Amino acid sequence: MKVLLLGVTGNVGSRLLPALIAHKHQIVGYVRSPNKLSAQVKSNLDSIVVGSATDSAAIKAAILIHNCDAVVNAAGVAAKTPFHSAGDFPAIFAAVVKAATEAGRERKAPIRCWLMSGFGILDHPKKPHLFVDYIPLFPTHKPNYQLIKSYAADDLAWSLFCANELIPKYDTPQYPAPADCSANNLVVQADSPPAWSNKFCKIPLIGGYLNVMAQAQEYFAVLENIVDMIAADLEKGLNSEYVGKRVGVKEKSKFQ
Ligand SMILES: NC(=O)c1ccc[n+]([C@@H]2O[C@H](COP(=O)([O-])OP(=O)(O)OC[C@H]3O[C@@H](n4cnc5c(N)ncnc54)[C@H](OP(=O)(O)O)[C@@H]3O)[C@@H](O)[C@H]2O)c1
Repeated sequence: MKVLLLGVTGNVGSRLLPALIAHKHQIVGYVRSPNKLSAQVKSNLDSIVVGSATDSAAIKAAILIHNCDAVVNAAGVAAKTPFHSAGDFPAIFAAVVKAATEAGRERKAPIRCWLMSGFGILDHPKKPHLFVDYIPLFPTHKPNYQLIKSYAADDLAWSLFCANELIPKYDTPQYPAPADCSANNLVVQADSPPAWSNKFCKIPLIGGYLNVMAQAQEYFAVLENIVDMIAADLEKGLNSEYVGKRVGVKEKSKFQ
């Protein structure tokens, strides 16, 4: 696919690039700081568009001018707690969603879109609660989810990657993408975390909290495995089983 990648200078985006290339996608980089791009990164990009990720019209134009079929957003950083400023992360999310939706309508085929989100918006076993209702970390992901779930797949073929902490295996992005890191190291599941145990849930009042506290770290993942999973999924285009879903993962090595 031809992919518009936002956030290519960041921790996640810089590792998405080699993974996307390994899966034979063509990449248009959308950046606000082109001076941060190394010669190696530039040589791996099909084109470079300079702009802010809050500028929906510019993102839409980039999608249409470069004939992109997919968008991956790794731009912006979610605030950790409700006491931190949300910064421009909600504006970036809304701008990317609007741009991809409008571009899809104009080209009469929905854009496949992966957006980085957080673990907190996965379903807690006590539905309709989400994990963020118990531990209010990275709260801005919830309004972002509420915004995007109103979009039908005919308009925008979205997936939200619901990351817990992502730990890079390699200090710097690897070209070519490292062979020892792949989606095969993960169990992937839509809407709720794979292999979640409900063992504390029956304890009155505090059970739901204990349940999250005791297990959350088991869902830390290797960043290079995650980017391979997203790049591999994009090969399925609009036929991906994760269209319209929140996506959680667990490292196979963490299964007992
Ligand atoms: N890393 C993790 O462990 C982790 C875990 C869970 C979720 N996530 C999510 O993954 C996403 C990326 O995280 P990260 O760790 O890669 O963050 P990061 O290293 O701080 O990178 C952020 C990227 O966003 C770009 N950016 C910020 N504002 C922008 C704007 N207005 N216009 C254009 N680009 C803009 C930055 O560009 P500049 O270089 O120009 O500043 C940079 O490329 C975030 O949504 C984060 O919440 C990350």
